[in-house]
Amino acid sequence: MDKGYRAVIDERLRRIRAMVNDEIPLRTEGPLRVGIDLGTADVVALAVDHAGEPVGAFLEWADVVRDGVVLDYWGAIEIVKRLMAQMRHRIGREITSAVAAYPPGTDPYSSINVLQAAGLRVDAVVDEPSSVAMLLNIEEGAVVDIGGGTTGISVVLEGRIVKTADEPTGGRHVTLTIAGNRHIPFEEAEILKRSTASPQLQAIAMPVFEKMTDIVRTHIATFDVPAIYLTGGTCCFPGVEELFRREFPGKEIVLPSEPLFLTPLAIASYGL
Ligand SMILES: Nc1ncnc2c1ncn2[C@@H]1O[C@H](COP(=O)(O)OP(=O)(O)OP(=O)(O)O)[C@@H](O)[C@H]1O
Ligand SMILES: [Mg+2]
Repeated sequence: MDKGYRAVIDERLRRIRAMVNDEIPLRTEGPLRVGIDLGTADVVALAVDHAGEPVGAFLEWADVVRDGVVLDYWGAIEIVKRLMAQMRHRIGREITSAVAAYPPGTDPYSSINVLQAAGLRVDAVVDEPSSVAMLLNIEEGAVVDIGGGTTGISVVLEGRIVKTADEPTGGRHVTLTIAGNRHIPFEEAEILKRSTASPQLQAIAMPVFEKMTDIVRTHIATFDVPAIYLTGGTCCFPGVEELFRREFPGKEIVLPSEPLFLTPLAIASYGL
């Protein structure tokens, strides 16, 4: 992945951050593509134009997916419908179809069923970390998607995906650890985690992140990948990039400008 293209992706991610949940109508031309990321922590709907530029982004924090699997179908469908209504307002046209995504090793039909029940045709279906590998045009490397509930991994060699995996450790476990240590409710710990970058908090969370790097090491051990591409909201936590640098010396560690939005951008851009 060359520097110029990396800058393009980082700029798109910053634009998503700036437009998220903004319903102010935007004039768009040409075909659009919508991707839906049904996550453990949040559901994100993202629309991109034919050139892959984001035109609309809506995020709802949610509790309808657990460890990558849709648990509350009704809740998930209602959220997707709400996000589509907002998106319709934003882009000024009906949305009839979207790209569905799923964590590796889980049943793709959980996501497909939710989208269809929300009234959408499914344009394509892709596993989450592999969509990122494709968006980033990775020739050799591993994508590590640390989300709310799970860590997804996709290994690419000679431009081909050779392995995918998903393990149940993510941001939820970081929050639970902080909540336990500070004797505070989960919701309070979640806000503290996202807003306070103190060394004490980093020290409390470190064992969870070390578990994640152990998981990654196990999965990529037999592949000689030169680089690890981080994605997923949990990579926003301060110190994650440095930890990966320490744990994987000699490998390039690539952190995007807005890790929370890279996977949704990749899902929406899949097949463009
Ligand atoms: N600034 C931040 N610092 C630390 N963690 C953050 C920050 N912003 C978001 N997160 C965490 O990112 C997680 C959500 O990320 P993401 O949207 O990638 O997960 P998801 O797709 O919902 O989950 P999964 O992929 O595991 O199903 C949450 O656990 C949230 O606490
Ligand atoms: Mg995710």
